[in-house]
Amino acid sequence: MRIPISPSPVLCLSLAALVACAGSATAAALSLPVALRPIVFYHGMGDSAHSKGMVQLFESIRDIAPGIFIHSISLAESESDDQRAGFFGNVNNQIELVCEQLKGIEELKDGFNAVGFSQGGQFLRAYIQRCNGPPVHNLVTVGSQHGGVSDIPGCVQAEDASCRLMRTIARSGVYSGYVRDHIVQAQYYKDPKNIERYLERSIFLPDINNELAIKNSTYAKRLTSINKLVMFMFKDDLTVKPKETAWFGFEDENGEIIDLEDQDQYKQDWLGLKTMDHAGKLVFDILEGEHMQFSLEDFTGKITKPYLLEVEDGNASLEDENDHRDQRKMGHRHRKGSSRHHDRGGRHGRNKNRLAIPRILGSDAHDQIVL
Ligand SMILES: *[C@@H]1O[C@H](CO)[C@@H](O)[C@H](O)[C@H]1NC(C)=O
Ligand SMILES: *[C@@H]1O[C@H](CO)[C@@H](O)[C@H](O)[C@H]1NC(C)=O
Repeated sequence: MRIPISPSPVLCLSLAALVACAGSATAAALSLPVALRPIVFYHGMGDSAHSKGMVQLFESIRDIAPGIFIHSISLAESESDDQRAGFFGNVNNQIELVCEQLKGIEELKDGFNAVGFSQGGQFLRAYIQRCNGPPVHNLVTVGSQHGGVSDIPGCVQAEDASCRLMRTIARSGVYSGYVRDHIVQAQYYKDPKNIERYLERSIFLPDINNELAIKNSTYAKRLTSINKLVMFMFKDDLTVKPKETAWFGFEDENGEIIDLEDQDQYKQDWLGLKTMDHAGKLVFDILEGEHMQFSLEDFTGKITKPYLLEVEDGNASLEDENDHRDQRKMGHRHRKGSSRHHDRGGRHGRNKNRLAIPRILGSDAHDQIVL
């Protein structure tokens, strides 16, 4: 499905327009024609903060908005250690590091827009729920696993030693002591056939999804405080199981997809998602392609322009949560079941623009493992 993007409200942002705007008396008095919120990215599994693909995205934003502040979350000094931290570690500790890191960045102090790729999406949501200081305005998650995964993801590149090691270790049992505390992917694995064990043993997802008996009201309070939670699902995602987890969907024990609105999560508003939905703060949208295989054109048209480059005019305030002027241009909610009617087969013809971002979750669908 295609969402028509309305003409951008950002008038003085393109390089050409900047020159034109700077010519006017008002704009000439300002050093920048508009104030833009900084952007924070969180990469996915197998990727690192400043990989070629990530840097390409940052450049695509700076082509439109030169001078915008962009921070890419990194959990280690070196790119290779940062990549490894996407496989090995305790996610709760990692979120704490992220909280410290973002708190220490002066440019972010008035808030920022955030983009999380794949697992980076649910980790940024955890940042909001556990810290949110500085505060997030829009959170855009791309192919994330909000609802958990029913299988440990595979490795895209055969030579990815960290990924292969992660899978080997995960095979010994996702909820066993060592694995559940040290393998990142095990910490958002959810066994559809044994929910009780998941609730009892998993150290991350049941807590961050407020699925445990005792709910943390701070989580809902912080999440509902953001402007928008925008969730993209990949239309032809064969590597995240189930792909509907990008919209908080999950499977029942027979493999049937339960949409968010049919879950207690929504009905009992554990995270405030129902409240957000009613306030027009949830966006469910689709990107063409396999997991993390989007075009630069889609990134700019569907993510950068509508959610990352909103103009903050002199009168707009970061706290202005009641402003729903632009709601009509947001994605339509895909109602029940619609997510399952997409053609899973087709490849389409824009591959030359595909980004070099490593796919987070592998495509070795045949390499099923029994957990
Ligand atoms: C709820 O979450 C906040 C943020 O992580 C934490 O400070 C607080 O202790 C939690 N409350 C309970 C009851 O667990
Ligand atoms: C800001 O508010 C002032 C006074 O209410 C108004 O005159 C001005 O046009 C507003 N500016 C913008 C950019 O909306």
